[in-house]
Amino acid sequence: MQLDTNQNNISFSAVTLSHLYASSVIRPNDVVIDATCGNGNDTIFLTEAVGNGGKVYGFDIQDIAIEATHKALSAKSLLQQTELLLQSHDEMLSSIPSSYHGKIRCIMFNLGYLPGGDKHQITLPSSTLEALQQSLQLLDVGGLISICAYRGHDGGEEEEKAVETFCSQLPKQSYNCIKTEHINEQPNRPVLYCIQKL
Ligand SMILES: C[S@@+](CC[C@H](N)C(=O)[O-])C[C@H]1O[C@@H](n2cnc3c(N)ncnc32)[C@H](O)[C@@H]1O
Repeated sequence: MQLDTNQNNISFSAVTLSHLYASSVIRPNDVVIDATCGNGNDTIFLTEAVGNGGKVYGFDIQDIAIEATHKALSAKSLLQQTELLLQSHDEMLSSIPSSYHGKIRCIMFNLGYLPGGDKHQITLPSSTLEALQQSLQLLDVGGLISICAYRGHDGGEEEEKAVETFCSQLPKQSYNCIKTEHINEQPNRPVLYCIQKL
């Protein structure tokens, strides 16, 4: 969680809010997924949230991201509870053991490109939507899918709209879908979507 240490206040970015929402549903020993490991910040958050008895599966398609996440986890002695997979998140249903299907407590997506990496290696609407569809099958009742969507890069707005359409079409009897965005800043600020299974 990103804290303003001077005032001890949380800065409400899309990412910190995704952690806040996720914290409200993740319990010790849960099994969770980081669908886009990147530099490992979300993976660290998830690993600390589930604790020693929990498990985090992390996906990324770039070697450099899996290596960065491995290094970040190792520096905090958090490798033991994690399994990092150099795979697209649209393969998650076949990669997660079937004994965990329907029991995953949180699935976190942080879309776009790797900060500090190749800005052309971005998440794409087709694989993101397929991964979201698979996430619905993996998710526990009461569990949460969080999606931070970025509109400032080429293709970002299209992907964000695709995520919004996906979320808005889910049946309200089965899913609680929330959009959180800053409304007093420039229009390309990141947007947070959350899907809670009822
Ligand atoms: C914004 S970064 C993630 C930031 C990360 N969660 C963190 O805390 O540092 C987006 C990541 O998504 C990855 N990515 C792109 N397409 C993907 C896919 N189909 N499956 C999994 N990861 C993907 C990129 O390689 C990149 O590392």
